[in-house]
Amino acid sequence: MEHDVKDLSLAAEGKRRIEWAERDMPVLRSVREKFEKEQPFAGKVLAAVLHVTAETANLVRTLKAGGANVFLAASNPLSTQDDVAAALVAEYQIPTFAIKGESTETFFSHIEALIAQKPVLTMDDGADLVSTLHQKHSELLPQILGGTEETTTGVIRLRAMHKDGALKMPIVAVNDAKTKNLFDNRYGTGQSTLDGIIRATDMLLAGKAVVVAGYGWCGKGVASRARGMGAVVIVTEVDPIKALEAAMDGFVVTTMDNAAKLGDLFVTVTGDINVITVEHFKRMKDGAVVCNSGHFDVEINLKELKKMAGTPTEVRRFVEEYVLDGKRIYVLAEGRLVNLSAAEGHPASVMDMSFATQATASAWMATQKSALAPGVYDVPEYVEQDIATLKLAAMGIQIDHLTEEQTRYLASWQEGT
Ligand SMILES: NC(=O)c1ccc[n+]([C@@H]2O[C@H](COP(=O)([O-])OP(=O)(O)OC[C@H]3O[C@@H](n4cnc5c(N)ncnc54)[C@H](O)[C@@H]3O)[C@@H](O)[C@H]2O)c1
Repeated sequence: MEHDVKDLSLAAEGKRRIEWAERDMPVLRSVREKFEKEQPFAGKVLAAVLHVTAETANLVRTLKAGGANVFLAASNPLSTQDDVAAALVAEYQIPTFAIKGESTETFFSHIEALIAQKPVLTMDDGADLVSTLHQKHSELLPQILGGTEETTTGVIRLRAMHKDGALKMPIVAVNDAKTKNLFDNRYGTGQSTLDGIIRATDMLLAGKAVVVAGYGWCGKGVASRARGMGAVVIVTEVDPIKALEAAMDGFVVTTMDNAAKLGDLFVTVTGDINVITVEHFKRMKDGAVVCNSGHFDVEINLKELKKMAGTPTEVRRFVEEYVLDGKRIYVLAEGRLVNLSAAEGHPASVMDMSFATQATASAWMATQKSALAPGVYDVPEYVEQDIATLKLAAMGIQIDHLTEEQTRYLASWQEGT
């Protein structure tokens, strides 16, 4: 079986971690049982470019159980868990191409290895697979049934492609499902970003000024959790509604120019480019810590910083010290997703919902009677309802149901005071 992983002898540890994550993924387990019976993917080649973590391993096992011929590569050069990649190959016979710390060249050669299998279904986290297919292998596009996209940045790229008339396959925007972004982006990124920062630096958050750039789902999660740990949180935004929301949630809202002077710790979660520039670095305090949890490593302008401050020194794993005008600035995980680089990414319990949504959306595409037209599709509403219902049941939470009278009342326009 073709593969490219760091060290197969790590497989036993990887298997233990995959099984540990699985205990917290009851919804995905029930999807797997359904897939085993229904075989929605029967023999279809599915290429998945995702963060290679213990939770993703449970997703690809689920796809395999549904009959898919799955191939997996990393969606980020630093997010791979090498023991999990080894276990996928050695224990679960899933061809995996991912090595933590791989070069950009190897990263794309792994994506090419998947494309060589001529997939008919794709799964992306950041749209690198779909983008490579369109730019370099457009001859394969006509036979592709469809793909799914996991993250905000990927959905933005795909919508831009569709707007330009460049998107030649249907894609389900899994990120936009409520069962994904309300929970994964907010609670998952919120907790695991702080986890990554703390593991990398061992810093105490209480009493620190934490600047969060972007008050979308991820930013809300990071800001509220940092506040919960005693930090004074400052939010920067470009959207007036989000800025107002942050202000009324009780955070200090200001520009990055102002915040740069105040922060002890900076976290970017905007999905945007050059949110922290060298002008901001120049204003920062000695010892400021800067990191990113947005999808690409473009939110912090490290190229400019390197030009001004020279090559950094690694002072701890995932912590690089730059000296600018005599001040020390610490950048975590080379500006890449800090939660996946320096910690383990989102906890399994929240990925349970994202990946159950992902797997079900992919099965929906695979089993359409006639091919879907190219475009970006929402996850069908019934899928979201089913997943939320299953998760509540797994958590032992009961909710009320509308009575017939209430259903009638809510649907009528005649009844008033
Ligand atoms: N680390 C992870 O595991 C993880 C998980 C989910 C999503 N993501 C990524 O995190 C990023 C944010 O995702 P989201 O779901 O919160 O997106 P979102 O669209 O809900 O929020 C992004 C926010 O950033 C704001 N913004 C844009 N440019 C800005 C700027 N220059 N300064 C300040 N604010 C700015 C936008 O107005 C918006 O409110 C994306 O790149 C997404 O792919 C990462």
